[in-house]
Amino acid sequence: MQNHIIIKQIKESGYLPQIPKDFGEVLNMLLEPCEFNMDECIEKLSKIPELETTLIQVLNHTSRLNRVIVTLKDAVLYLGAKNTRMIAVAYITKLLLPNKSGRAKIFNNKTYWKHCVGTSIASYMLADKTGLCDKDKIFTYGLIHDIGVTVLDICLPDHLDRIYTMKTEQGIHQIVAEKIVLSGITHTEIGMWLCDEWGIPDEIKEIIGCHHYPFVNTNTSNEVRVMYLADFISANHYQRLLGSKKSFNYSDRVMELLNVSKDLIDEIAGKLPGEVERINNAIDFEFL
Ligand SMILES: [Fe+2]
Ligand SMILES: [Fe+2]
Repeated sequence: MQNHIIIKQIKESGYLPQIPKDFGEVLNMLLEPCEFNMDECIEKLSKIPELETTLIQVLNHTSRLNRVIVTLKDAVLYLGAKNTRMIAVAYITKLLLPNKSGRAKIFNNKTYWKHCVGTSIASYMLADKTGLCDKDKIFTYGLIHDIGVTVLDICLPDHLDRIYTMKTEQGIHQIVAEKIVLSGITHTEIGMWLCDEWGIPDEIKEIIGCHHYPFVNTNTSNEVRVMYLADFISANHYQRLLGSKKSFNYSDRVMELLNVSKDLIDEIAGKLPGEVERINNAIDFEFL
């Protein structure tokens, strides 16, 4: 993958945000909270620029504690591993926030961001109703499931504009348009490459790499299958935001494998537009 022409162009663009290698190790530790060594984790977190400030700022801003959080250790002890992991994923999101660094001119990254928020919400609702996976974890993963698209927006905006135009004006499926413009690869391979570059845990890499193809591997995790369905539900909402009447059909096989009914999907799809607006307005992503 390193030698693929598009990956070379992404690296040569000089626009990709840099992230310390320790960051992936911290995420790995937080995914197995029973086994991690708190002091080692805090030591690694402390090396990541801005993360300490982000954590402390978020806590002092959003909580009504009667004490002020001053150190990273205070923050991690207060939050616990699960919430620290969520904030750490929010930190990646911050680095790649669409309206922060995106450079595409035709592709609208703010509307696309609503697709990411919608995928998070739909995956959370699916997890909540079915108990198939951790709903908080899947919510945070939804925000970064299409990280490959954001990499294109930041590093190769002209390519993304071409893909977007082929999709909206010629009705070509996004994945097909990507393969044409990106010499055979798609945003999922770009996302997986980024996970390797940044040392992002395999659990997240699998979601980023397989959310369009949950059947490539028979051992696909429930998280990937839930994300696949959530992405579909949210993609239909995104189509309408773009003014298109075209909608996608859900895979019966995934619904069967997850024991999810069409009624549940319709219920989530009905609630999604209002929830996307509510969350998008409630979370100050600029602040994170
Ligand atoms: Fe995707
Ligand atoms: Fe998506």
